[in-house]
Amino acid sequence: MPRTVFAAVGTYVPERVVTNEWLSTRMETSDEWIVQRTGIRERRWVEPGTGASDLAFEATKRALEKAGWKATDIEAIIYATLSPDHMIPGDGCFLNAKLGIPGVPAMDIRNQCTGFVYGLAVADAWIRIGMYRRVLVVGAEVQSTALDVSTRGRDVAVIFGDGAGAALLEATDEPGRGVLSCHLHADGRFATDLWCDAPGSVYSPRSSVQQIESGAIYPRMEGQKVFKHAVTKMPDVMREALEKNGLTTGDLKLVVAHQANMRIAEMVQRSLELRDDQVFNNIQKYGNTTAASIPLCLAEAIEARGVQRGDLVGLCAFGAGFTWASALLRW
Ligand code: ACO
Repeated sequence: MPRTVFAAVGTYVPERVVTNEWLSTRMETSDEWIVQRTGIRERRWVEPGTGASDLAFEATKRALEKAGWKATDIEAIIYATLSPDHMIPGDGCFLNAKLGIPGVPAMDIRNQCTGFVYGLAVADAWIRIGMYRRVLVVGAEVQSTALDVSTRGRDVAVIFGDGAGAALLEATDEPGRGVLSCHLHADGRFATDLWCDAPGSVYSPRSSVQQIESGAIYPRMEGQKVFKHAVTKMPDVMREALEKNGLTTGDLKLVVAHQANMRIAEMVQRSLELRDDQVFNNIQKYGNTTAASIPLCLAEAIEARGVQRGDLVGLCAFGAGFTWASALLRW
């Protein structure tokens, strides 16, 4: 049975840098508060008119260039986002058109911060059963257009950034390489602890002036509840993957944890007893980019930590739903 390897990871972030100081001119907050609670110093936000699929397209072009593939080499698209360009259709179709690959299947995944790992699990299953040999898994988000950039929305608005990461996956028969296993979880009892109420199909029409005015169109979260779950679920699901494969944290060259918040990432590192050189974070520069965060971090981490063929790499994520997931792979 073939295994799944990463041929290349490409990334793209918009040019506009939004600093904590700039946010402080729009709401009652400060660089000190944001850095101390989240570790974020700046994030990238799009200019109006740019959608998540535009970022996905740029990231995919960079991945194709790195891998030496043509767009027509892609046999299937899996696209993870919570911020599609439009309600209908899914962003995978917009990306398919931008890449100029009509006929290639495109599937959207709505699993927020765990979307990339859920997507990787699906791609890995397709590759293992021989359905496709080359799959694009992309995570792309434009969060900035959904944020309440005022004191009312400050707990959420300071956290999120825009960006995209695209992974080109391919089948290999080479022994000792590839995805070993993926582990997916969800607990919908916490669905409204991190969510966006409107627009939604339970409303007719799907959004109203009243919902705009009340702020129901903005994402909301129970920050402390999210924090407590994230710092236990991410280490737990990483350990689940290691145990399944008879490995330990000492075997890991690198762990890339979803970039939710620097304090969360540090607690995950401590819980797993990982050395500094076994982890990598870039939330300082990009904020939390939800489904884009893992590929955006992985691309930089591979370079920074000098990951070589056959090295053991762990990915873990936690997000709205609540959902959480991990993957373990030999690079
Ligand atoms: N600037 C200044 N003050 C703020 C801000 C802000 N941006 N946001 C909230 N505050 C205020 C609050 O209003 C509150 O004021 P009060 O005491 O007068 O009521 C005070 O700061 C403390 O608020 P808390 O919510 O208790 O602050 P806490 O220490 O919990 O930190 C935070 C808030 C950073 C959101 C924290 O709960 C957290 O990190 N939660 C995890 C959430 C997260 O990472 N989400 C990412 C998305 S989900 C995911 O990716 C998994």
